[in-house]
Amino acid sequence: MCLGNICRSPLAEAIFKHKIKERKLEASFEGDSCGTSNYHIGDPPDARTIRNAAKNGVKINHLGRQLTERDLESFDYILAMDKSNYQNIFRLANAGAHADKISMMRQFDPEDKGGEVPDPYYGGERGFQEVFDILDRSMEEFIDYLQEKNLVK
Ligand code: 4NP
Repeated sequence: MCLGNICRSPLAEAIFKHKIKERKLEASFEGDSCGTSNYHIGDPPDARTIRNAAKNGVKINHLGRQLTERDLESFDYILAMDKSNYQNIFRLANAGAHADKISMMRQFDPEDKGGEVPDPYYGGERGFQEVFDILDRSMEEFIDYLQEKNLVK
């Protein structure tokens, strides 16, 4: 999840689904994305995100939605793109009860485990490729982790 749910998190979701399909794991895992804000509810991803995903061979299909308390109950892992998103999750009344499943996306980035996924919204095309590369590496490691934890005993 991110702020607007039109740049970073829909791309993360699309990369996750792309990799899950490549690994033939669609029956085992589900993924979705959302934003902490209500700015872009019902909106398709940013045109620059769609273009960048296509350039990298990833199909993106999502409409913006806002994080709800129900998400915290239904999903096993909630990954925030930056510290501000992470803090905003805790405005939801039940977040404290689910704190152990809320973490930062880049804890799975082998190149910078303490980093944030930068917001590309006000920048240029290069920022979108940087986000793609970060999410591609992080999702690869996240799915390795899921497979080890859930499937390989
Ligand atoms: P995202 O990027 O959080 O990666 O979807 C943003 C999209 C929209 C806005 C900010 C960040 N906005 O202020 O509208």
